[in-house]
Amino acid sequence: MQILGIDIGGSGIKGAVVDMKKGELVGERFRVETPHPCVPKALMGALGAIFEHFKWNGLVGIGFPGVVRNDVIYNAPNLDRSLAGLKLAEKIYKRHGLRSSLINDADAAGVAEMRFGSGKNMKGLTILVTIGTGLGSGVFYDGVLIPNIEFGHVMMKERDTGKWRESEKINGGAARTKYDLNWDDWSQRFSDHLRYLCSVFYPDHIILGGGITSKADKFLKKLDCPAPLSIARFENQAGIVGAAANARDHLCPAK
Ligand code: BGC
Repeated sequence: MQILGIDIGGSGIKGAVVDMKKGELVGERFRVETPHPCVPKALMGALGAIFEHFKWNGLVGIGFPGVVRNDVIYNAPNLDRSLAGLKLAEKIYKRHGLRSSLINDADAAGVAEMRFGSGKNMKGLTILVTIGTGLGSGVFYDGVLIPNIEFGHVMMKERDTGKWRESEKINGGAARTKYDLNWDDWSQRFSDHLRYLCSVFYPDHIILGGGITSKADKFLKKLDCPAPLSIARFENQAGIVGAAANARDHLCPAK
């Protein structure tokens, strides 16, 4: 079985056909720029370009960088406020006749890792942390997802200024580039985020994902975290694979 997986990100929207048995991409990814501002009409246009590229008429799974409930967007902190309330799957069905399913992007990445990647046989509480524009989190107990847990928005004290700010703004991947932090300094900040998760949830495992994990040799050993850490297998494909896997079970409209 093949499903079109789509990962909506802050700078690009990527799509690829996924073989659901192997959890692997079939052929090349196709990427379009995320429109700015990313208002509903522009987002629908970008998704339409992806359906058109693949001449797709099958099932679709979409990972979205915000909270989603029942295939409706609840918020979009790094995209556009006007997306809140958008019934994306319903709109896609009305316009393109395609059945689809919506899931938070970090939850999608976690689904891919737990099903096909480095979380495959993990029991107990596993948290996947995606490090990108935002700090995403996917929480799983014995492989079962507890959706929409948003650790990136926890308020934490910034190391240098002592000001309370959202963790993703001061400890995430965007903070590393914005403040031009070296790996030592960034690792200390990111460790604050990890230690917070551990002090409240006591996870059995933490998996780190996002493009930055291709440079794990630069920071993994510098992290200070009480829980065992592993690196996601899928790097930047996890969102696509997980969104497709989610669509196999939760499609809108249901048949
Ligand atoms: C959003 C999350 C998302 C994460 C990674 C955060 O700003 O609130 O929903 O998973 O960024 O994209």
